[in-house]
Parts: sequence; structure tokens; C-alpha cells
Amino acid sequence: MDVIVTGNRAELTKAREATGRGRYALVPTMGALHEGHRSLIRLAGEQADHVVVSVFVNPLQFGPNEDFSRYPRTFEADLAVCAEEGVRVVFAPAVADMYLPDRQVSVSAGAMGSVVEGAFRPEHFDGVLTVVLKLFNLVQPDVAVFGQKDAQQLALIRRMVADLDLPIEIVGGPTVREGDGLALSSRNRYLSADDRATALNLSRALRAGAVQRGPERIKDAARAVLETAARLDPPLLLDYLALVDPATFTEVAEDHRGEAILAVAAKVGTTRLIDNVVLTLG
Ligand code: PAF
Repeated sequence: MDVIVTGNRAELTKAREATGRGRYALVPTMGALHEGHRSLIRLAGEQADHVVVSVFVNPLQFGPNEDFSRYPRTFEADLAVCAEEGVRVVFAPAVADMYLPDRQVSVSAGAMGSVVEGAFRPEHFDGVLTVVLKLFNLVQPDVAVFGQKDAQQLALIRRMVADLDLPIEIVGGPTVREGDGLALSSRNRYLSADDRATALNLSRALRAGAVQRGPERIKDAARAVLETAARLDPPLLLDYLALVDPATFTEVAEDHRGEAILAVAAKVGTTRLIDNVVLTLG
């Protein structure tokens, strides 16, 4: 069956009617689809009868000095990926289709949205949650799939679903990596060969931390890798390295038991990258 492509909410409703009954899964994306997105689409296909992929570069989640205007837009290639993966509907609205010019109300990510990644990207998570809630309302999926690579985003979406009683199941998909460990990201296409060599130290640092025991030793081992990478050309410019509780994104105490997320963000050249790994402590 052909993919139904629409940018318009009335057509989206018609596309759902044309597709028929059954369980719907939504995979929200900003396009520039890569193997990581393919794995989320496949996971969505295991959860539902029909998969809807949204492709929308959401201006609300970019800060004034961030890469909204240069964010990769590869719509034709994205459609080909969706067709290959058996996606039923691609919802690709324009900004004017999503947001009223006199828009007033938005979702607040609360305190959890202003720590770790949120401390470096004020209002980013408010923008993410606002668009995700709108996509949930427009598509009305039974289940929605998000990547673990954006761990704080995933945690906040789970929080929103719980706090606002949204009748949607949230499924997290594992981070997909290149053979040498680099986490797949639409922003990797900004990296030069030298940038990429430096960027590999994000995943190296996480691996160095993951084999240690206890929060301080885990962070020390990861920090040592990042400090060495800060002396490379181009240097790795660290924003944060944090070991946090997966549900709250607050730093874990030295006696923490159970899951924790070791998360890192850094700039390499003009590209800001994030990565994380889930650890079990104690
Ligand atoms: O993870 C992303 O690509 C975006 O933050 C999302 C969830 C599609 C919202 O714009």
C-alpha cells in the first residue's frame, strides 16, 4: 500500500478513516531520517496495525542561537524511508498548519525541564512537550515511540502522559550506534571527518564510565576521557556530564541503587551532540 502523505489536519483525519480500524502507533520525528528512526518505525510496527510518522521541524524547541534554519530537511528521502518501512501515513504539516499566529497556551515541562539538558536549552522541553501534545491530539495514536537517545525528552513525555492523563502508551527505542560507537543523530551530518573523530569521545566516555562502580568513579572515568578530548583539534567542549535518576533527571546520590542514566552533551566544531547510557547501580 502507498504511503498517504498529508500536511493538513482535515486530510489526516480522512487518511485515518481510509486506513481503517486497528491500533495506531505514532513516531514523531523532525525528519532527516536515519537508521535510528528506522528502528523506531519497526518498533512501532510491532506495537500496532498502522504506523504514522510525523515530520515537522518544530520551531518552538529551538533557542534563538540554535540550528533551526539549518536543521537538515530531506523530505523526499524521508518519504522513501517511510515507504520502505511500510509506514501508512506521513503527517508533515507546515509551521502555519501547526501553530496559530496568536498562539497563547503551551505545555510547561516544570522543574524537570530546566535541569541537565534543560539548563543549557531554556524552554526547549516546553517546545517539545507542546508539539508532542499537539501531535497526540491530531493523530490520536494508541502508542507513541521515542528514542532513548533523547533520554530526558523521553522521561518528560512519560511524565506529561502521567500528569495530564493522556490515554497513550509510550515506548522507548534503544539508541542505534555506528560500528565505532557514535550514536546516530540527524545532526551527525554536520560533522567533518575531524569533528567526527573528536565526537567519538562522547560514547567512549560513556563506555569508560559504564565499567566503573559507584557514581563518583563512574563520572571520574567518563570525565577523564572528555578532558583528553578537550585537547584535540577540534576540541570537545563539554556542556555537562551527569549521572541522573531516569525518572526525575536529578543527580543520583553516592548510595543510589537501581537504574541511572549517564548523560553527556558537548559541542564539536559547530555541532552540539548528546548521548547517554542506562546503567544499573548497586
Ligand atoms: O526527537 C525529536 O525529533 C523531536 O524532539 C520531536 C519528539 C519529534 C518533537 O519535535
